[in-house]
Amino acid sequence: MSIESRPDALTPPLTPPTTQPTHPVDAATGMAKGLTNYGDRGFSLFLRKAFIKGAGYTDQALDKPVIGITNTGSAYNPCHGNMPQLMEAVKRGVMLAGGLPMDFPTISIHESFAQPTSMMTRNLMAMDTEEMILAQPMDAVVLIGGCDKTVPAQLMGAASAGIPAIQLVTGAMLTGSHRGERVGACTDCRRYWGRFRAGEIDGEEVAAVNNQLVASVGTCSVMGTASTMACIAEALGMTVPGGASPPAVTADRIRVAEMTGTLAVQMARDRLTIDKVLTAKAFENAMRVLLAIGGSTNCIIHLTAIAGRMGFEVDLKALDRMGRETPVLLDLKPSGAHYMEDFHHAGGMATLLRELKPLLHLDAMTVTGRTLGQEMDDHPAAFAQNVVRPASDPIYPQGGIAVLQGNLAPGGAIIKQSAADPRLMEHEGRAVVFENVQDMADRIDSDELDITADDIIVLKNIGPKGAPGMPEAGYIPIPMKLARQGVKDIVRVSDGRMSGTAFGTIVLHVTPEAAIGGPLAYVLNGDRIRLSVAARAIDLLVSDDELAQRRSAMTVVEPTAARGYRKLFLQTVTQADLGVDFDFLRAATMRGSVPSSGT
Ligand code: FES
Repeated sequence: MSIESRPDALTPPLTPPTTQPTHPVDAATGMAKGLTNYGDRGFSLFLRKAFIKGAGYTDQALDKPVIGITNTGSAYNPCHGNMPQLMEAVKRGVMLAGGLPMDFPTISIHESFAQPTSMMTRNLMAMDTEEMILAQPMDAVVLIGGCDKTVPAQLMGAASAGIPAIQLVTGAMLTGSHRGERVGACTDCRRYWGRFRAGEIDGEEVAAVNNQLVASVGTCSVMGTASTMACIAEALGMTVPGGASPPAVTADRIRVAEMTGTLAVQMARDRLTIDKVLTAKAFENAMRVLLAIGGSTNCIIHLTAIAGRMGFEVDLKALDRMGRETPVLLDLKPSGAHYMEDFHHAGGMATLLRELKPLLHLDAMTVTGRTLGQEMDDHPAAFAQNVVRPASDPIYPQGGIAVLQGNLAPGGAIIKQSAADPRLMEHEGRAVVFENVQDMADRIDSDELDITADDIIVLKNIGPKGAPGMPEAGYIPIPMKLARQGVKDIVRVSDGRMSGTAFGTIVLHVTPEAAIGGPLAYVLNGDRIRLSVAARAIDLLVSDDELAQRRSAMTVVEPTAARGYRKLFLQTVTQADLGVDFDFLRAATMRGSVPSSGT
């Protein structure tokens, strides 16, 4: 069909905004959507078609629903190393359903290749994703991500863009084998490095295991942030059913990719926009799953940021109450024993959701156009397996994450109790303070460091503005002199994050952070700190008067930057309790809080 015979496409109507007030909704479809502004809409479409035909497209192809596909392949990102195969399969699925696949690049972030920390660029990727979805014509978008920050960034960006969106994760890597022991990134990376620091293994062995920890492309093989976000994306209803668990290099993963492409076309035709999927009930289902899988603490921040884009505050106290009635069922490292490929062989999310069914909102909508409950009715029958425990015999009786509060963290802090040492969860100790990451690096392994296993290590200035970017330095290494004595855990407190693959009695996300003058800034060496996970409390045992005196005597200078993205980041980033998102990217008005108190 020529453009002259399609006058409707030449004058695409604009309709008022609905749920996303920041972006006008363009009711045009396909290639006529989001026309470049030359002041003549007919000419804009004429020119667009002329250019795309330079790539050999026919009018017949250009009349189809357009499905954008984010291409986050990068030589710096082996977690996305199966991108070519996934892209081919998604495109096949799109074309089988009668759509036109159009892939486009966005930023890609890998944990180990992002300086100073991947969290600093998460919001940049979210902005890139949002703006490229809006700048280019597409009726639906397939988001392909995997490594820790990419899926949160894509969901944040797509939530703000507002068009139909479906998430495809790259899938977990395979496990490797070192001298007969099964290993995988990155819990075993930390364990072997800890053994090397303690002098238990030599340089030759630590070099040998380095070859085995990441046995294929794909995301970390334990329940770290990437695996947690994959499960959360499925629990949110944002992936095809069963989309979370297939490993990266399997046929199942490719089939999920093809189905994702096919569903994207259906979503475009049905105008199943993201606000119909990312509802309060969807966020509550995701929180349930986060707690039940012993998921990464980072995902509280990411879920808070995604929810904030949709107009929902996260109520940390209500989340803690939800945690008290949600058992940890998934026996995966770092809280348990298995790896993601075992979870997949055990039936993946279908097996987990079956056990959680009484606690879920079954009427939450999914990208299939059917509710979670309808999808669960079609799940395969249960079978014997030892990775997902029955609710009657959990790994841990409560949710993996507890929310703490106290005079040290008036805005909250968290601890991954399922990965902590039970002996340390009720503990009072003397503070051993490091002012920042450099101070810690300079002194932590010194034999002169005055520290015992009963002390509490405090690391300041690794919050959203402090480092900046809230690095995963909250997993403070055991000081060398203690490691040599065989100490495996010690209470650690910081305003930073830790990797989802890490373990220990570690208090994180202390809010407000030290860099903006939170109480953490005024902790001194020798102060007493009390941690009570049972009472959900983290307190500095210093009087209010003494704290006030310290506040007036010590000057906290907030970090600044002269230019560029770092300047934007430091001026607008929010604290952990608001998702470390930029303040101007959150929804203009809030619709409520999740989880709701009635959950
Ligand atoms: Fe990419 Fe762990 S480094 S998922």
